[in-house]
Amino acid sequence: MEDLRNVIRDIPDFPKKGIVFKDITTLLADAKSFHRMVDLIAHRYIGQKIDQIVGVEARGFILGAALAYKLGTGITLVRKPGKLPYKTIQKTYQLEYGTDTLEIHSDAFKPGDRVVVADDLLATGGTVAAVAELVKECGAEIVECAFLAELEFLKGRERLPLDRVFSLLKF
Ligand code: ADE
Repeated sequence: MEDLRNVIRDIPDFPKKGIVFKDITTLLADAKSFHRMVDLIAHRYIGQKIDQIVGVEARGFILGAALAYKLGTGITLVRKPGKLPYKTIQKTYQLEYGTDTLEIHSDAFKPGDRVVVADDLLATGGTVAAVAELVKECGAEIVECAFLAELEFLKGRERLPLDRVFSLLKF
């Protein structure tokens, strides 16, 4: 896993002074690393009943779409406000730097659908906590939240009302 960690680069003071941004674009751009990331994460769910992947805007769409393709499921999008065309429900939440709002189509799932939530990075957990509420309000069950990477020092995992959180890489 060291090889995968090493292709993620640190960008100091982005998007604000004092934040060390984990830039995953270098991992995505590297064919071997990208395939390995998707295969390792998808492997966890092969053989389980998964009805949908939930991809979180924007980088969660990349991992989410690749996982959905690999697992033979569809992908449901959780998006920034004003992007989804049909009826939505919304949540506003705190970020490591600022606040944000996310939306999902209110008819996204069938009752009891088992879903995996995909995003690139677990930081404070604010985003995924909001996504989990949206998914549950729409009637689905979260099998697991899967991340490429986790910033352990932000203790996001401890704040989540979820038992099943997986991250491939920990920083
Ligand atoms: N999202 C929240 N904090 C981040 C960080 N430090 N690097 C990349 N994405 C982030």
